[in-house]
Formats: sequence, structure tokens, C-alpha cells
Amino acid sequence: MTRIAIDPARPVGRLDRKVFGGFVEHLGRCIYGGLYEEGSPLADDRGFRKDVLGLLRELRLGVLRWPGGNFVSNYHWADGIGPRDSRPRRPELAWGGEESNRFGTDDYLAYCAELGTEPYICLNMGTGTLEEALAWVEYCNSAGDTYWASRRRSNGRAEPYRVIYWGLGNEMYGDWQVGAFTAEEYVREATRWARAIRMLDPQAKLVSCGMNGWNEWDRVVIDGMASLVDYHSLHIYTGSEDYWTNVLQPHQAERAIRCTRALLERAAYRQKLATPPRIAYDEWNVWYRRMTGALEERYTFADALAVGTYLNIFLRNCDWVRMANLAQMVNAIAPIVTSGDAAAVQPIWYPVLLHTQAALDLAVDVSVDGPTVSPELPAGASRWPFRIADLAPFSLIDAAATVSANSVSAHKVAITLVNRSPEDELAEVLLRDHTFEGPARIRTVTPARPGDARTLPDVETAQLEEGSENTKDGVVAVRLPPRSFTVIEAAMTNR
Ligand code: AHR
Repeated sequence: MTRIAIDPARPVGRLDRKVFGGFVEHLGRCIYGGLYEEGSPLADDRGFRKDVLGLLRELRLGVLRWPGGNFVSNYHWADGIGPRDSRPRRPELAWGGEESNRFGTDDYLAYCAELGTEPYICLNMGTGTLEEALAWVEYCNSAGDTYWASRRRSNGRAEPYRVIYWGLGNEMYGDWQVGAFTAEEYVREATRWARAIRMLDPQAKLVSCGMNGWNEWDRVVIDGMASLVDYHSLHIYTGSEDYWTNVLQPHQAERAIRCTRALLERAAYRQKLATPPRIAYDEWNVWYRRMTGALEERYTFADALAVGTYLNIFLRNCDWVRMANLAQMVNAIAPIVTSGDAAAVQPIWYPVLLHTQAALDLAVDVSVDGPTVSPELPAGASRWPFRIADLAPFSLIDAAATVSANSVSAHKVAITLVNRSPEDELAEVLLRDHTFEGPARIRTVTPARPGDARTLPDVETAQLEEGSENTKDGVVAVRLPPRSFTVIEAAMTNR
């Protein structure tokens, strides 16, 4: 049995809903043929696929990053505004192919408004200039009587869009990136950009381009940019055919958060900053099968366990992780996949859905006491070189909890549990100094059973079941099926 003790009186931090963010890139069929498909009977008159929009709405994304990714480092935003038929086609260098520019800034911002999500635009620091970046900010946000603000008005949008979040380049350290820099070169250039963008738009919140959180690049960029940005970004992709490697590798994010936090605190201390920048995990996911082409990864239930664990980790560290963007949302390494006449969800959809539905205002302290694993993690079993064996032992059950902040007397609590064990496991959840009020609502996701109906033939599905469990004082006991993801939601009061 695993004992999970939750201490509602010990908050980790207020949960920023931007932790439930997404990312969409001009890549394969993510935009074109994914969320946007002109002429499709499933699209509205703007070309937005209504089935995809409906599914994305269910996830209540706090923020949506765009337009890349690697794509952005060769993207000239001004090609994507104005009458569609006059927009130029351009060579696309990151993934190969051509960019039609039929989906551009106004289309993306209309899409965010339709979804009710915050936009987050990543700037082109590859082939793009500072002048172009300033023009982009002016086009989106200026209320003035200036050239690009007027261009926006003449394209049909009177009011400024008020885009708050701007990324200073994407993965500028990598040789796969058009126009990559050394860390010192990046700091020099990004400093010029950050100062100028803030002059134009003091409300802008800027994101410096980080690597993986424990690299020399991160240290140099954090030291150089901490006084000028609000977030430092990290990216992480994990995954392996080896089950234990696949489901445990997300714990590397925990170590990356610890390292990045130390670098941020050190920079804030040395530079006497009142508040250090926070972490934006602006790309994260399981991704290891389809590394080239359109990246149309087909996900399994083990991948869903990894995704549920990532989100638990972001909740447990929500004082530092203030944004996280699942990469990506449609067709390319995505929970949602489309054909010409249908949209389906992959297993990784379910932990995201349940997390976003259940999460409350404050993440709180959780301790897990129960069986652990220290599995053999075969070297070379993963294409991602994370050494996680040294993080063992790992609890078989990974847990996170949030509580409501609206009232002192009648609270709610939500607990997310990932059972990585191949056996069913009994979890006894105990509230410190609080009692449950009434039964707990239990929702559990398990792998699809053979013969379960699929929306698209090559897309695996999953089972979502709902029930309830009696509580006794501050305790509820739940049997977790093998390899499952469970959410417990209940009312509680102070003891
Ligand atoms: O999400 C796919 C790609 O992964 C992104 O374009 C890039 O930023 C990262 O390398």
C-alpha cells in the first residue's frame, strides 16, 4: 500500500494556468490540414477546423505558443498579413518545403480569442531583424497613429491585440536552428532586443531562450538576461521503447527545474534583482519515434503516464514553473490528430484533460510513502541522453495535489495519481488537519481494451471511467488499476 499525505496548509505556490499551455508550429500538418483547413466541410468560414477547435477548447489552454519552434527562425511575419491571395509563398528552411502564409498573425490571434487563450509569440532571431520584431510588436499592440498599427487597422482589427508574452528566439543554441548563436552572441543580441521591445511596449513579458536547464548555455544566458526578462525557457523531450525509461524519464524535468532555479536565484542575488525570472517550460512532451518529416507520432498509454507525470511535476514546482507548453497540439507530436473527415485524440490527451479540469488554485505539499522501483534502465534505450538512474528510487505512484483558495471553511482538493506499476496498487490518501466532506469523485484512465472502437484506425484510444469512493474523516482509499492515471476530487474542511 502507498500512503499519500496531503498538507493543505502547506502551499507550494499559486498555480498559474499557463502551466496548462500548448504550442502549435507551422510544421507538417499542425496548422495546415490540422487546426486550419480552408475548404474543408469541417471548417468554419475562417478556415478553422471546428472539430479540432472543440477538442482544444476542452483542454482550456492557459496560453498557446506560436509560430515555432524551429520554423520561426526563418519566418517573416509581415508575409502573413493582409489579403490571403496576395501573401507570398516562401521556402521553409527548418523542416523543408514551402510556407504559403495563408495562416498568419491575425489568423492566429483570432484563433486564440476563439479558444479563450493567451497568445505567446516567439520572435525570429535567426533571419529576423530587431526592426522586424519591433514592427511585429507594434502591429499587435500599438494604439498609436503609426505605420504598423494602421496596417493592423486596415486589415480589419481596430483594437490592439495586447499580446503580452514574447519569446526571444527559439533554441538559438542548436546547429539545426537557422542563424544559431553562441551563448555570448545570444546574450549580446537578445539584450538589444529586450531593451528596445520594452521601450516600445513596457507591458511586454519577455522569455529568454534556454536550453535544458543544466547546461553552460543556460548559465550564461541567465546571468546575461535575468534583469531583462520575465521567464527563462526550457525544453524537454523524452521517451523510449523501454517501459521504465519511458515512464520515469520525465523526472529529469525535476532536476532541470532544480538546476535552473539555482541559476536564477544566483543571478538574482548577484544582480540584486527583486524577483528572479521564472521558468517557462515552453516545449515538453514524449517524442522519440518519428523524428523527421511531419513528426506524426503515434502515442501509447505508457506515453500518457509520462505526460501525466510531467504535469504532476509542474504542479509540484509551480512556484518556479509559471508556464509550460505541450509540444505540440495537432498532428505533429500531438494529442489531437486529424484526417480529412475526422479528428481523434491519442492516449496522451487524457491526462492533460483531467489535469486541466481538476486543477485548483494552489498546489500543496504531498508526500508519498510506499513501494518504489529502481529499475535497470538500459543504456542507449533512449535517444535522449538523460541519466536518470541516479534519481532512483522512484515511487511506483507519482502524486500531486491542489486545493481551492476561495474560502477558508469549505475547500476543495484535487489529487492526480500516476500508477506506473504493472500491478494494481492500493493508495490511501490522507489529509493533514482536514477532513473530507462527503464521497470523493474518482476518474481513472486506463489503456484501451482489445477491440475498443477507434475514431481513426491507427490511433490508439483509452478508457475513462468515473465513480466515487466513500471517505472517512481525512482518509480515502483508492485501488489504482495497473498502469493508470487517476484524479480524486473532493470537498474538505479544516479539522
Ligand atoms: O516541437 C518540435 C521541435 O522541437 C521544435 O520546432 C523545436 O523547437 C524543437 O527542437
